[in-house]
Amino acid sequence: MNKVLITREVPERFLTDLKQVADVEMYPEQQKPMPREALLAQSKDKTVVITMLSDQIDKEYLDSCPDLKAVINLAVGYDNIDVDYAAQKGIVICNTPDVLTETTAELGFTLMVVTARRIIEAAAMVQDGEWTGWSPYLMAGKDVYGKTVGIYGMGAIGQAFARRCTGFGMTVLYHNRSRHEQAEHELGVTYADFDELIARSDYVVCTAPLTEETRNKFDQQVFKQMKSDAIFINIGRGGHVVEEDLLHAVKNQEILAAGLDVLAAEPIDSDHPFLNEPNIVVLPHIGSASVETRDAMIQLCIDNARYVINGEHPLTPVNKTR
Ligand code: DGY
Repeated sequence: MNKVLITREVPERFLTDLKQVADVEMYPEQQKPMPREALLAQSKDKTVVITMLSDQIDKEYLDSCPDLKAVINLAVGYDNIDVDYAAQKGIVICNTPDVLTETTAELGFTLMVVTARRIIEAAAMVQDGEWTGWSPYLMAGKDVYGKTVGIYGMGAIGQAFARRCTGFGMTVLYHNRSRHEQAEHELGVTYADFDELIARSDYVVCTAPLTEETRNKFDQQVFKQMKSDAIFINIGRGGHVVEEDLLHAVKNQEILAAGLDVLAAEPIDSDHPFLNEPNIVVLPHIGSASVETRDAMIQLCIDNARYVINGEHPLTPVNKTR
């Protein structure tokens, strides 16, 4: 019998079909990642592992699982996995694209508006009993409507984000590894080189996947090139940003504000310096977290696992195995 490990608790209702073809073990925790030692120990005899983005699937891990055929990540991003090494070992890696596109773009757009209009700060003021009455500039933020947005990464999520921006009458610039002529044609977005995107945008939004090329892309030099009232939004990965440089840029008013759904090391403690800055909004990596979308992501992982176990091509592989 094939053996499957799922590294976080998912609802039993998803497991019925999988249990017909495999022994399924599941780490019985919703909130906490599987400790590394347990992950290594419990993966040793598995054919398929369904992982979370908090699991590091590196050389040590891949070398310790002789029977492993597939790692299926419950996320569209897979920077937690050594994909090339897995390919060398003939292990297929799958992710969950498409099913989370709209939900993630929706969160990103919401975060942009919430940050610009100081919604979190304003609600906290009311809750803390500090609202003394109306005044002309009370919690006055920055308009989103009609402004210029620069989207870094024009994949599916970048395009879904752009679609929302057009509804707000925004000028949409984008930067991507390669031009996306279809998006230019269908969405009216304009390609800009990175420096132009940074210099012209009122909102700079990172939706790109994290790679060695994009790691630490947003550093002191980049924040200095942004407009002094620019707002930086990150729904990609925390690793794109040199976080001390972002903190410095916001503190010193080199940019106006930042909205972050992702951080370099997650989770953060309550004494993290970002949390003392009213102009930095931090969310707990909830880009794709609607019940409908998380259901669809789990189902896609289970379907991929069943395909692999049945000796068929999985639905959403990201690497080519030999
Ligand atoms: C992903 O799927 O990569 C997202 O970051 C999860 O919310």
